[in-house]
Amino acid sequence: MKNDFFDYLATARQAALQAGAILRSKFGLSSLHVDKKGRINLVTEADLASEELIRQTILSQYPDHEFLGEESGLSAHSGQPRWIVDPLDGTTNFAQGYPFFSISIALEIEREVVAGVVYDPTHNEMFSAVKQQGAFLNDQPIRVSDHAVLEKALLVTGFPYELRRDPDILLQLFRELIVRARGIRRDGSAALDLCYTACGRFDAFWEVGLHPWDIAAGSLIVQEAGGRITNFSDQPHNLLYPEMLASNSLLHAPILKAIAPHLDQLHSSALLAKPL
Ligand code: IPD
Ligand code: CA
Ligand code: CA
Repeated sequence: MKNDFFDYLATARQAALQAGAILRSKFGLSSLHVDKKGRINLVTEADLASEELIRQTILSQYPDHEFLGEESGLSAHSGQPRWIVDPLDGTTNFAQGYPFFSISIALEIEREVVAGVVYDPTHNEMFSAVKQQGAFLNDQPIRVSDHAVLEKALLVTGFPYELRRDPDILLQLFRELIVRARGIRRDGSAALDLCYTACGRFDAFWEVGLHPWDIAAGSLIVQEAGGRITNFSDQPHNLLYPEMLASNSLLHAPILKAIAPHLDQLHSSALLAKPL
C-alpha cells in the first residue's frame, strides 16, 4: 500500500508541475479574464485552466477515482479514493499580480488524507507528504519550528470571503494573538500558510471558514512535519470543521488558551450560521 501512496504522490507532483506552468504563463497578463463568484470572491481563467489540467492528468491515470475540485465540484460518489484539489490557492493575490499563490492536491482514502502536494510555482517550491513517511520541501525533509514561547512566535492567519457577516469575532481573535505574538502575517494562500508552518517559517496558523480543498494537502504536510492540528476546542483535525489551528505543537496550548474566551461567541456567530 505504501508503494501505491508514492505512485499517487508522483501523479500529484506531475499534475502540480504542469498546472504550475499554466499559472506562471498567465501570471501578470493584462488580458487575464477575471470573474466574480461572490461579492469579493474572484475566479480567473487560470483557476479554470489549472483545474481542468489537473483533473485530466489524474483521471487519465485513475479513471475510477473521485475528483473534488474547487471549481468543478465532486465528479461522482463511487466510494473510491478521492482527490481534493485547489487549482489556485491565492486567487486574489494572483489576480492582483502579488506573487504568492499555490496549487494544492491531496488524495483521501477512506476519509483519511494519505498523500498531498502543495506547489508554489513562483518560487519553484514543492511541499509534499505521504502518511507516516515525513514531509518534504523539494525532496529535503522539513520540520516545524521549536519556538515554545508565544512572544517569540511569528503567526499567520487568513479571513474568509464572507467576513462581512460578522467581522468583529474574527478581529477579536486577531487582537488576542497580535498582542501576544512577535508578529502576524496575512499572506493569502491557506495551503502555503500551512506549508510555511510545516517548515518553520511560521510557528502557527489559524483561520475560520476554510474548505477541504484549501487544507487537505497542507494539513497532512504539517502533521508529517511534527505539527499539530485541531479545531479551536482542541478536537482532532477534520477537513469539515469550519475552524482550524495548526501549530508547531509547542504553541498549541497557549494559542488555544488565548482564544478560548471567544469560542461561545464564535460558535453562535452569523459567520457559521450557514456553510461558508
Ligand atoms: C483563499 C485563500 C486565503 C484564505 C481564504 C481562501 P482561494 O482561497 O486560501 O488565504 O484566507 O479563506 O478561500 O479563494 O484563493 O482559493
Ligand atoms: Ca483556496
Ligand atoms: Ca482556489
